[in-house]
Amino acid sequence: DGVMASKRGALIVLEGVDRAGKTTQCKKLVQALQQSGRPAEMMRFPDRSTTIGQLISAYLEKKSDLEDHTVHLLFSANRWELVPVMKKKLEQGITLVVDRYAFSGVAFTSAKPGFCLDWCKRPDVGLPKPDLVMFLQLNPAEAALRGQFGNERYETSAFQKSVQEKFEQLMKDPSVNWKVIDASQNVEGVHADIRTHSLNAINETQNMPLGELWK
Ligand code: TMP
Repeated sequence: DGVMASKRGALIVLEGVDRAGKTTQCKKLVQALQQSGRPAEMMRFPDRSTTIGQLISAYLEKKSDLEDHTVHLLFSANRWELVPVMKKKLEQGITLVVDRYAFSGVAFTSAKPGFCLDWCKRPDVGLPKPDLVMFLQLNPAEAALRGQFGNERYETSAFQKSVQEKFEQLMKDPSVNWKVIDASQNVEGVHADIRTHSLNAINETQNMPLGELWK
């Protein structure tokens, strides 16, 4: 009918091990995009504000115990419950900058004994596929210089090391647009790399349909 389809926002995910600076960089990216006139919003997973998110939060704070498969499915359900909101915002042209996504879900659970990558990926198959996933790479020695671990579940160096290995396996998948960012640079250097990749992704994907993850 002659009406131009409006451009969708991009789905941009930041992943990485603990203390790589994901949250700081997500906030800076959203600010930079907004300041250049591009609508952008931040999200994070787990989203602890929902009913499911509260179950996850209590588990992470060690206030409750949950069976390992069960908590994996709750993390996934927490993403699925946000999908309608995510799709709506992307369609409205809002770029979403997401602090952790299904990749954290798979890396953390598959680092536990008895879990394979394939089982861990299943519940997240078909989620909105990120247009760009940036992995903030930081070696354990440099991470240690940034201070102690917190007291939440998973915050030990042995577990984080196996999580890192699982991320490396996931990054071999060419169906996902992975970019590795050197997170040992200063905050502004990391931000400059992230901004460049993000602007490219926004320009390249604005006229393409949103994909389905691992499908
Ligand atoms: P946060 O510190 O970024 O809030 O993340 C909370 C913890 O939850 C972190 O240790 C990573 C872990 N996690 C999972 O185990 N599965 C998931 O699906 C996600 C998103 C995070």
